[in-house]
Amino acid sequence: MNFCDLSDKMILVTGASSGIGHQTAIQISERGGRVFVSGRDAKKLKETFESLEGDRHEYLTADLTDEKQIDRLVEMLPQINGIVHCAGIVGPTPAKFIRRENIERMFRINYEGPVLLTGKVLVRKKIENNASIIFMSSVATRSPYFGGALYGSSKAAIEAYSQSIALELAGKGIRSNCLSPGLVNTPLLTDPAKEGNPEIVDDSINKYLQKYPMGIGEPSDVANIIIFLLADESRWISGSNILLGGVLQ
Ligand SMILES: NC(=O)c1ccc[n+]([C@@H]2O[C@H](COP(=O)([O-])OP(=O)(O)OC[C@H]3O[C@@H](n4cnc5c(N)ncnc54)[C@H](OP(=O)(O)O)[C@@H]3O)[C@@H](O)[C@H]2O)c1
Repeated sequence: MNFCDLSDKMILVTGASSGIGHQTAIQISERGGRVFVSGRDAKKLKETFESLEGDRHEYLTADLTDEKQIDRLVEMLPQINGIVHCAGIVGPTPAKFIRRENIERMFRINYEGPVLLTGKVLVRKKIENNASIIFMSSVATRSPYFGGALYGSSKAAIEAYSQSIALELAGKGIRSNCLSPGLVNTPLLTDPAKEGNPEIVDDSINKYLQKYPMGIGEPSDVANIIIFLLADESRWISGSNILLGGVLQ
């Protein structure tokens, strides 16, 4: 068997219509895995779906801020061997401008979505023993940037959740881990108007770039680690949080 062979696995990837999720879905399929891809934008999700190698993949559009759509997604899911939670937003907001609606929006996508989805998958017993669950955190939880208070808080919350369920699920051999990448070259950065204030993003990104002596990452730099965490070769890693970004200053 090849190292990190995924040919016996079906993996759910959220946020698969863009960036890290898109790249991850493709790389899982290249390793022989089947993928159930989900995202909001139907056109972009179809593009991801059509880029997958092999067949027997599935896709479904779902807005993960809507609990009914989460229920539908779980309903449609086959038995899975892993979840890669890539759906997320940045939405930079300086502390004095943070309003309840900003908090609710940020946490609904970055925290509630993955937490509700994971819980419902467990209740419906859609996840097999020895599966692997991966959450996307960020270096922002330990390396703050201007306007990142809300984003960093939502990611810190998901880190705590991941560690806790790692313990709860250990008996079934199900693993839960976080990845904390630094800046990755995805539409989250290059199309910040998607969810946030472009001016603030441009300003903070320029300052932030100086912290990366090894340069910023590409989606494949993150997807490669996700592949390892999904594969049985990482069976002894759970409750961890892996920092990605080269030597961070
Ligand atoms: N890029 C970075 O520098 C970086 C660094 C550290 C951590 N991360 C984290 O990595 C994850 C992926 O980021 P990325 O850079 O790949 O971003 P991206 O290219 O903007 O992709 C984000 C994905 O999330 C989906 N999404 C957003 N809101 C959603 C909702 N309400 N329901 C369902 N899906 C939703 C988007 O769907 P549509 O496009 O279909 O709307 C898209 O597929 C995020 O959690 C992010 O916080 C990114």
